[in-house]
Amino acid sequence: MTLHVDRIDLADAIRTGVNPYLVGPYAPTRDELTLTDLEVVGEIPDDLNGVYVRNGPNPQHEPDGRYHWFDGDAMVHSVHIADGQATYRNRWVRTDGFQRERQAGSPLWKGIIEPPGDNPPGEPEKDTANTDILFHNERLLALWYRSGKPYALDPVTLETLGAEDFGGTLRCEVSAHAKADERTGELMFFDYGMKPPYMRYGVVSPQGVVRHFIGIDLPGPRLPHDMAITDRYSILMDLPLYNDPEATRHGRFKLFFDNDKPSRFGVIPRFGNSARVRWFEADPCFIYHSVNSWEEGDEIVMDVCRVKHPEPRTDLEGPLANVLSYLRLDAHMHRYRFNLRTGKTTEQTIDDDNSEFPSINNNVLGTPSRYAYNMHISPESTLLFDGLMKYDVHTGAAETHWFGDGRWGSEAPFAPRPGSTEEDDGYLVSYVYDEREGLSEVEVLDARDVTAGPLCRIKLPVRVPIGFHATWVPAERLPGGSA
Ligand SMILES: [Fe+2]
Repeated sequence: MTLHVDRIDLADAIRTGVNPYLVGPYAPTRDELTLTDLEVVGEIPDDLNGVYVRNGPNPQHEPDGRYHWFDGDAMVHSVHIADGQATYRNRWVRTDGFQRERQAGSPLWKGIIEPPGDNPPGEPEKDTANTDILFHNERLLALWYRSGKPYALDPVTLETLGAEDFGGTLRCEVSAHAKADERTGELMFFDYGMKPPYMRYGVVSPQGVVRHFIGIDLPGPRLPHDMAITDRYSILMDLPLYNDPEATRHGRFKLFFDNDKPSRFGVIPRFGNSARVRWFEADPCFIYHSVNSWEEGDEIVMDVCRVKHPEPRTDLEGPLANVLSYLRLDAHMHRYRFNLRTGKTTEQTIDDDNSEFPSINNNVLGTPSRYAYNMHISPESTLLFDGLMKYDVHTGAAETHWFGDGRWGSEAPFAPRPGSTEEDDGYLVSYVYDEREGLSEVEVLDARDVTAGPLCRIKLPVRVPIGFHATWVPAERLPGGSA
């Protein structure tokens, strides 16, 4: 596999045909490591104990055909902090597809940009589990954005425990961005697909058993990426971004944004049946990620990162045009209010700066919250994060920690300070790749004062490739309840 050190930008990619998602900060890593005695600049706060873990794509073999960033096998990277010491681990997730390709010694699947003709029969896409990572019932779950098997991992060793079927009670797949309610221990999830009812929704109990499972009727196949929860409701999305029906007939992947259709949001009581879904309409858009949602009088409030231009770009040419045209992200903080009494939706922009990959204090998930921690998207065109923004959603104001020249951050989960009562009393942790050193580190910020810069930097002697979603597991929630 080619392992160029230097990043290349979009113009270089178009000129040279070198895929920017296989080089520089994105280049896959080959080794699975456990590294202790890491150098720390500053001091790790003594009340920061737990596991920071991030998922992302990392192909184990040289891709067969054009590589899309979303194709790679899941690799999780963790830093386990205990008593002021940090241990780094990275492991591939042993999905069925990963194991079969490992045995074969070469790819069995082509990526989503290539025709799937020669892919394994009945499996047009490899279920990689490479997108999201969350913690539920003492295990990590790696989830895939196209809906697949949830893979359970040990939160400390990162060993793959296997595909999670919740004791045989799971009757569908699970999409990325299921929601774990830390106050009740329940896990709300959805999946989506090509056959009616096109979406399904369920609730897993704190003990890991599917207690509720229903179909959600959509007008056709959709590509939802996230959902939201409040104390009592779940919010599901029907957005007018489709797989082009003509392309689908030919087994290809091509997005189509229908600006004439509304966005629709389905509000359903957590344990409601299909007939209880209430649909709210809003202006057409696409949304990758919700920030938080809560109940306020007759209304459900939902904050999201709303994509401004969901349609693929059409100004690119060359062999990688198809790959690159889908890989842009131009989103801003946006608020919906769904009035359960009148059935009306209102929406407003919170801020128009370009940010995504939001985190919040998960202790307030589903309840009124004030702060969101978003990654600021660099004007660089290959989806790099140049700053971490702390939003006050009451005012739309943001404070930003900039990572510095040639330094790129990663989704930064919130680690609450033990015993904290203020929403922003805790830490933010983020992998930062420094392209001058070719190495990564973990920055730890005080969430109350992000502009003060990192409290400490945990230096890694390796590079953590740019990836997708992350979470923080406090030490007291780890199996055994200690660090
Ligand atoms: Fe996502």
